[in-house]
Amino acid sequence: MTRFGEAEFARVKDIMPAYDYALQIMATKLRIIYMHYESVGDYNPINHIQSRLKSFESMAEKLSRKGLPLTAGAAREYLDDIAGVRVICSFAKDIATVVDTLERQQDIYVVRKTDYIESPKETGYRSYHLIVEVPIYLPADRIRVKAEVQIRTQGMDFWAGMEHKARYKNEGTIPPNLARELRVCSERIAELDRQMSLIHDKIRMFNDDENAAGE
Ligand code: GTP
Ligand code: MG
Repeated sequence: MTRFGEAEFARVKDIMPAYDYALQIMATKLRIIYMHYESVGDYNPINHIQSRLKSFESMAEKLSRKGLPLTAGAAREYLDDIAGVRVICSFAKDIATVVDTLERQQDIYVVRKTDYIESPKETGYRSYHLIVEVPIYLPADRIRVKAEVQIRTQGMDFWAGMEHKARYKNEGTIPPNLARELRVCSERIAELDRQMSLIHDKIRMFNDDENAAGE
């Protein structure tokens, strides 16, 4: 198991509160969007939201995997996902709505966007990733802290969870047969996402017709 040295561990612990603040801000922003859609009552593009701070172990592992020094400085500079929020949508088209809503927030800065839906990873991984910088106002300081927002459908989330489990159980590698099966499943989930979205459109049209007929 990779670990930070004792002295460096203390420094890494010191930088964590800032990431926690950024996480709270991003999670709250997304929760407000969720609550807004609930209150207007029509349709909510967000199914649910998850958030987590990266564990020390996983920070150390990632730095070492990338050949970087196990220091708080390297963690701050190179790890974009110490604060991580995940937004789970029902349909693929909802993802653009969430991305757009976040991009229009003037108090956060989008530093990177990666569309693994338009271009899925070799593994079959699909999601939309935003790396943002969140300004934090401390009593004597204004700092900017990075956070990663992963936006995906329930189907993509189901897939990523399975694939992660397969990788984890096997110390980071997946046997070729299983990897192939997972790629096929990723395609099928994408197809299912499209079909479900079409059905959803039809249900809405049907409901609109019903409402119009009732007026
Ligand atoms: P990582 O070092 O894996 O974080 O890669 P990166 O920093 O270049 O960023 P990338 O956008 O590739 O991945 C960021 C995060 O997306 C990962 O930490 C995972 O949560 C998720 N992810 C990326 N690729 C995969 C994948 O193939 N399978 C699964 N299950 N998750 C993935
Ligand atoms: Mg990353």
